[in-house]
Amino acid sequence: MSDGLHPAVVSAQPSQRDEKNPDAPLFEGEYQDRLEKILSRYPFKRAALLPVLNMAQQVRGWISPDTIKRVAEILELSPAYVRSVASFYTMFQLRPAGKYLIQVCTGIGCDLCGAEDVVEGLLKATGTRIGETSADGKYTVVEVECLAGCGFPTMVQINDRMYENVKAEDVEGLLKELD
Ligand code: FES
Repeated sequence: MSDGLHPAVVSAQPSQRDEKNPDAPLFEGEYQDRLEKILSRYPFKRAALLPVLNMAQQVRGWISPDTIKRVAEILELSPAYVRSVASFYTMFQLRPAGKYLIQVCTGIGCDLCGAEDVVEGLLKATGTRIGETSADGKYTVVEVECLAGCGFPTMVQINDRMYENVKAEDVEGLLKELD
């Protein structure tokens, strides 16, 4: 298992261990600046929907109904539209997740290389079922389809960090590393 230094996510790593606050104010202070920066990259507000949802999830840990409402207001969209987009992508959590959201790729490439064993190992080690959050609020394990690292199965994403070539026997070390 490599330790996740994939160039595509290096800049996102500082948020790996951030505490999420479901009630954190959105789009204020430094997040207002980030919002403006994001909006400046797009010709229309609505085109910024994915990065804005992503930022909201980084701050709050999940996309709550209140978050959907705020994002819709900011981008001048209907809440129904924002919800439909958020529910299409597995990267957005529509219910509260643990401190560590563990996404395991069970796409065909990873599945052929033991992804189910990795999932099983994680569920056993965290004492959860798929999509549930552990009693201590730390872990939520979900299955996703393709994390765009098909050459490095099994791919696992924990919050913003990617882990390549994960085997069932790596699970214990992986969880230890988080604490
Ligand atoms: S199939 Fe697992 S990363 Fe693509």
